[in-house]
Amino acid sequence: MTQIRIVRGDITKRPVDAIVNAANQTLLGGGGVDGAIHRAAGPELLRECRSLGGCRPGEARITGGYHLPAKHVIHTVGPVYGMEEGHEAELLAACYRHSLALAAQHGCKSIAFPSISTGAFGYPIEEASRIALRTIQEFIREQPNAVTLIEIVTFSERDQRAYQKAYGEFSGAANGA
Ligand code: APR
Repeated sequence: MTQIRIVRGDITKRPVDAIVNAANQTLLGGGGVDGAIHRAAGPELLRECRSLGGCRPGEARITGGYHLPAKHVIHTVGPVYGMEEGHEAELLAACYRHSLALAAQHGCKSIAFPSISTGAFGYPIEEASRIALRTIQEFIREQPNAVTLIEIVTFSERDQRAYQKAYGEFSGAANGA
């Protein structure tokens, strides 16, 4: 049975097999969680990212974790809210789906997500958190034993509340952590 946890904190510290990076299409780093992950992982991460040739919105790529506690980083590019010709919701769902599929393909049993697209990319947290939890639940139904732990690591109280609310809607029970 896959456990979902809504955790408040810094994703670069999470002791899981893979952490997900909310990157941009160049995969060459940036601010926010992207900057935090590259700083914590060290320069080898950027060196490997250079070899990937970028990533389209909704897609995901996997690299090593280097100096992070996590063995892998899964880089995904969220939609920029209002800039994807009305495809924002399906692209955001694709980020979660493709990241989970990549984790499963690489034998990662635990994975931590940040709140993709709700920072610089402007996605409203209420809708984004519901898309995240709905997509995660769909993945668990389709592949019940692929991943045993899925964390969503929130960086603010506001985000924590939004994801706990969404979790309650999609899982029926409020989730502490
Ligand atoms: N741990 C967990 N969450 C974090 C951390 C951290 N260390 N740092 C920031 N966050 C949170 C933010 O508070 C926000 O809720 O990650 C969420 C996503 O925000 P952004 O990092 O701005 O990502 P996004 O909105 O997807 O925009 C991506 O920003 O950093 C650039 O290169 C990145 O161009 C890309 C864009």
